[in-house]
Amino acid sequence: MLIVIEGIDGSGKSTQAKILFDRLSKMSCKVALLAEPTNSIYGIKIREKLASGEYTAEELYELFVKDRELNAANIRRLLSRGYIVILDRYYISTIAYQGAQGIPIERILRDHKNFPQPDIVIILDIDPRKALSRLKKKKDTFEAQRFLEKVRAIYLEVPRILAHLNSLIKVVDADRNPIEVSEEIWEIVREKIHCRK
Ligand code: TYD
Repeated sequence: MLIVIEGIDGSGKSTQAKILFDRLSKMSCKVALLAEPTNSIYGIKIREKLASGEYTAEELYELFVKDRELNAANIRRLLSRGYIVILDRYYISTIAYQGAQGIPIERILRDHKNFPQPDIVIILDIDPRKALSRLKKKKDTFEAQRFLEKVRAIYLEVPRILAHLNSLIKVVDADRNPIEVSEEIWEIVREKIHCRK
């Protein structure tokens, strides 16, 4: 079972991934929580580039795919051992963010055909202005907001873009308190979980 949590910066993804992880752990499920970008050499390069702002869309795209190739080996190993894997961002982030930076979505889909496919995708949806105001490290510029508006628009298209996964993609309103959001996520996940107490 591969559960992917997605959303723009400030949507509360990491908080929700952690709440879900804790909930499943308490039920004695075998569960792992992973995040992308990872801490691989590629993940470190990605964070450096994002912090400096010096990169091309192409460069960043290639780094995300390389980082994900390493992570996919990890994901496959965990899944084969019966773990529920919760993933805080996956290739759907690449569709939304690198798509917004001009990388063709058909190319992104083609390059990710052989990656493990999710069983549940949760997209946390929120207005970028509100999301940015939640971030501690303020990236609260007009430019950041415009960019996240593009990213959000692509996220909202994801059920159509990934039509073959449509039934397992859920868009959740993230403009609520974290407990309410986590309850909705739990309703979605609970019925698909097979681990025993
Ligand atoms: P993340 O670690 O989720 O953000 P934070 O450090 O705030 O918790 O992701 C870092 C940034 O990387 C975020 O702005 C989204 C971006 N990103 C992409 O552009 N493409 C991708 O494929 C992924 C996984 C992340």
